[in-house]
Amino acid sequence: MDRFVIQGPTRLEGQLAVGGAKNAVLPLMAAALLSRGESVIDNVPDLQDVRFFMTILEGLGARCQLEFNRLRIDTTDLDSHEAPYDLVRKMRASIYVLGPLLARRGEARVSLPGGCAFGPRPVDLHQKGMRALGAAVDEEHGYIVARAPGGLQGGRFRFDPVSVGATCNVLMAAVLARGESRLENCAIEPEVTQLVAALVRAGARIEGVGTRTLQVQGVDSLKPLDDAVIPDRIEAGTYLAAAAVAGGRVHLEGVRQDHMAPVVAVLRDLGCDISEQGDGLTCERRGKLQPVRVETQPYPGFPTDMQAQVMAAAALADGVSFITDTIYPDRFTHAAEMVRLGANIEVKNGTATIIGTERLQAAPVMASDLRASAALVLAATAAHGITEVRRVYHIDRGYQSIEERLAALGARITRQSE
Ligand code: EPZ
Repeated sequence: MDRFVIQGPTRLEGQLAVGGAKNAVLPLMAAALLSRGESVIDNVPDLQDVRFFMTILEGLGARCQLEFNRLRIDTTDLDSHEAPYDLVRKMRASIYVLGPLLARRGEARVSLPGGCAFGPRPVDLHQKGMRALGAAVDEEHGYIVARAPGGLQGGRFRFDPVSVGATCNVLMAAVLARGESRLENCAIEPEVTQLVAALVRAGARIEGVGTRTLQVQGVDSLKPLDDAVIPDRIEAGTYLAAAAVAGGRVHLEGVRQDHMAPVVAVLRDLGCDISEQGDGLTCERRGKLQPVRVETQPYPGFPTDMQAQVMAAAALADGVSFITDTIYPDRFTHAAEMVRLGANIEVKNGTATIIGTERLQAAPVMASDLRASAALVLAATAAHGITEVRRVYHIDRGYQSIEERLAALGARITRQSE
């Protein structure tokens, strides 16, 4: 198992290009199941989660090939409707095959995802949404078993709470359902809007793109997808936050500035100078970090996937910060590890209170999930001494070669196998 060895403190200086978004490519890969033929998706990040989803699709009978960030998925000859436990337990997003399989094959058997490091993550909305489209959905022996032998029927469904995954899953089912569907209180994350636009380009009839109400007129079939993945706003936010935590100046190319707005606002509150150039963004931090009050919300609110990285900055701020995660109130496993690095953090009822400290000190820390581990790496670049971050496989799921990219910005970081 790999670990990162990081020597701090180091200021960061330099520029990077942002890759395609993990959370946008996964639903697109599932959507390829809706058509017969070869879908082509460009700007695909070569991440473990992408490789993993390819394994799931190949288990269903698809043929996948990822080369030079171009992904080809041939779904002409699917021969299964099952996503087994041994695959799904490793990646929750595997549940995205439920809607497309049900729509295309009239049945789907998908393992329930199981536990998550940052608390309960039910999938009841995915199941209820499929029922609203006329499917019989049961849980049997740890599997979601969904059937619609006569095909899906248009229906009406309201998501509560707003759910990225359930919106994508139910929408993918609705596009091939007979008749009209009305989906309310949908997620409007850029990754969801990308899926909606890709389905429309493939022949789906959807009104309300970018709004919380999607009106879908079912069609008989879709063309294979032909799309390019949007830039990863969370990867971009992480590298901008790296400049905030360590100090220095980081320029990113190939970002969607509109998608970054909620993150940029908080970085400015932290005392960073953020400037826009073309499709680029620069974050510069020279002075002292300022305390912030952050509350995560569905897009266009502040993303829960960036709260850990902001906590690493707040740990060094000149005052008391508060971070409330309204989406995952228990998503604070990184707090205890940051306390090991000398931070002063208390978590209570979904809110972390962070009393800023002058300096962090190096210590061995343990990664627990994707964003928590990225935040620990950022904190380690500012900590005095040599920090070991263990279990970095979590990071490889969502960041391409983070150690090389941070080293290119001047960080003293190496990957070592245990
Ligand atoms: C997506 O997860 C992202 N994952 C997550 O990013 C992200 O944290 C999350 O959206 C919120 O933005 C991917 O895109 C692969 P949700 P998802 O359904 O779809 C509740 C990362 O770091 N809920 O929007 O699983 C749920 O408990 C990952 O890249 C139900 O109650 O999240 C949560 O409180 C981590 N019932 C809220 O909705 C359901 O059936 C939002 O979850 C589904 C969700």
